[in-house]
Amino acid sequence: MLKESVDYIRSITDKKVEIGIISGSGLGGLADKIENPVFIDYKDIPHFAVSTAPNHIGRFVIGDYCGKNVICMQGRLHYYEGHSMKDVIYPVQVMNKLGVKVLIVTNAAGGINTSFSVGDIMMITDHINMMGTNPFIGKNDDEEGLRFFDMTHAYSPRLCEIADCVAKENNIDLKHGVYVSTTGPSFETPAEVKAFRILGGDAVGMSTVPEVIAANHCSMEVLAFSLITNTAAGVSDVLLSGDDVIEIGKKKATVLSKLVDEVLYRL
Ligand code: HPA
Repeated sequence: MLKESVDYIRSITDKKVEIGIISGSGLGGLADKIENPVFIDYKDIPHFAVSTAPNHIGRFVIGDYCGKNVICMQGRLHYYEGHSMKDVIYPVQVMNKLGVKVLIVTNAAGGINTSFSVGDIMMITDHINMMGTNPFIGKNDDEEGLRFFDMTHAYSPRLCEIADCVAKENNIDLKHGVYVSTTGPSFETPAEVKAFRILGGDAVGMSTVPEVIAANHCSMEVLAFSLITNTAAGVSDVLLSGDDVIEIGKKKATVLSKLVDEVLYRL
């Protein structure tokens, strides 16, 4: 299956790609800045599932960005859309076959840590998988990765260090924290948010963890950022809305984009 997907992409462009980017809710604008872009709709790629989330365009954008050859997922697949975990991680496995060694992931998340404000950017230093499943349950393909693979450095310390330097030099107040993933699509209850805080979570969202697990399976280095689009349920009196998440994402995406740009220049 992977070979057929890769062959299709290769029939459209033979550009070598080394960096993969997955942009989250309201953050797809990054892909618009890619130069000499080649667009490949997910719906046209053999064996690909199609994203249905609001505001998620479903396509790969391949081109030049900040001096690098990149492949960007403009729109990701979420488990809550009804896709299987295997479908959710499939694009990461395709990116791996295309040569991607570094994966940069962004998402929108609710702030659990009470010191976070809406609009803050949190670099994910670790995660807690609350999705109740794992994309690698089932038969393992030993040629792709190990059956039992290490997740100690799931978020690359090397890349985190670069991002910290970039943030410091550009006066970006970059928070650090642990991302908790839920299946969604309901937002959390205040009791769940409280429990996640006790467990050590700083932000909560409905994505990223499956893709990061997949990236680690095939030994990619990962750098991931959450844009805090709201305080998580019960942290303030504000009720949560998906539209607000997307609006804040769009408004605050500039700083996140600057951060990603500068990191890319240094890779
Ligand atoms: N919870 C889960 N997912 C989210 C949130 C949230 O508060 N905000 C943005 N994505």
